[in-house]
Amino acid sequence: MTHVIKGQTLSFGTSHLHVKHEQKGAIVVADDGTILWSGPQPLLPHGFRQLPCDDFGSQIVMPGFVDAHIHFPQYRMLAAPGKDLLDWLTRFTFPEESRYADPAFAAAAADVFLSRLYAHGTTSALAFCSVHKTCADALFSAAAARNMALITGKTMMDRNAIPAVQDDPETGARESTELYSAWHGKGRLRYAVTPRFAVTSTEAQLKISGELLASLDGALMQTHLSESPGEIAFVKQLFPDARDYTDVYDRFGLLSNRSLFAHGIHLSERECARLSESGSGVVHCPTSNTFLGSGLMPMSHLRKISRPVAVGIATDVGGGTNYSMLATLGEAYKVQMLAGYKPTAAELFHMATQGNAERLHISHETGSIDTGKFADLVVLDPNATPVLASRQELSNSLEDVLFSLMILGDDRAIRATYVAGRKVHERVSPQA
Ligand code: GUN
Ligand code: ZN
Repeated sequence: MTHVIKGQTLSFGTSHLHVKHEQKGAIVVADDGTILWSGPQPLLPHGFRQLPCDDFGSQIVMPGFVDAHIHFPQYRMLAAPGKDLLDWLTRFTFPEESRYADPAFAAAAADVFLSRLYAHGTTSALAFCSVHKTCADALFSAAAARNMALITGKTMMDRNAIPAVQDDPETGARESTELYSAWHGKGRLRYAVTPRFAVTSTEAQLKISGELLASLDGALMQTHLSESPGEIAFVKQLFPDARDYTDVYDRFGLLSNRSLFAHGIHLSERECARLSESGSGVVHCPTSNTFLGSGLMPMSHLRKISRPVAVGIATDVGGGTNYSMLATLGEAYKVQMLAGYKPTAAELFHMATQGNAERLHISHETGSIDTGKFADLVVLDPNATPVLASRQELSNSLEDVLFSLMILGDDRAIRATYVAGRKVHERVSPQA
């Protein structure tokens, strides 16, 4: 049913400098979950004034967060302490991901995973699945039932892992194509070709991945790049002829404006130039990078004006330590401070909404509060905890409030979440 959502509305345009902010805003949501109208409450057209309304007062109603890199089959394994990335993958990650061969296990996990995203204010994601087709089927099916913009793919990996999480190039290609045919374009779902990373794919598999990216119309590609020193050394050993890590993917046609590379911490000038030229995106995963000791991703280096690389931001659960994009923005702020750059809160909130939606090619349907897009929304309570409430006594600008929310906020600050206009999460009672 057509309904209205009121509150302090906030949304970004093509940059964080383009802010749409109403202290008393209203959003009219149509039957099909799209936004019919938005603007200041006094201008709400008369025809909409008698509609059912959720009024959040002075709380912030903004676009739901878009998580640009998260691992569904790692949803239980946050806080698994590895010595470094490769140790963490072998010791905890591959055994846990092997469980997703079981369709019943994967289906139950998908329900928990999506509820958890909503409880943290995330309404869209680009997610990794395990190597098993069953895992991707389960996640697509759960997201379809919720009318959610979700992009995922079956992970492909044919070496350097336990047999239970390996495929081979032909099986990987066949199953990826079957999943694309079954799910891509169905409702709000999209497919992403997903070779895990150069360590776990042979040349044959990377070649097939490039062919899939070229042939599956509209599909994205996601993988990992230049995350940890041990990983980079291993890739050098596996691909001695490549100029660098980025070149390994480039040789197989994997750089494109539909390609998203997680991490990109230790990239050279040449690598940044190639990523920029090809329109590829790099996804900053700060809680994962500090947790696994991978390094400090230098955002200002990547975005250098002469050869800017498009940068997104993500939780990278379960290497990441929090489902909350608020906490992720807070950690990004700290990592960037250590890397010599001081981002504003507006800049980071823009990245987590419209910016990520653009990176993922879903900005026509989500990422901002605009007529015709889906009403994928999160309601933030700036006074959610006593510590936040005390801090707001000192806040005297929107930037102040957003800054305090990203440094001090987490799922407690998520008052409600809407996916395609439907309330999918509501915090029951304020908690200390
Ligand atoms: N590199 C390859 N696989 C993974 C993964 O699952 N998590 C992280 N953080 N890095 C990876
Ligand atoms: Zn990852």
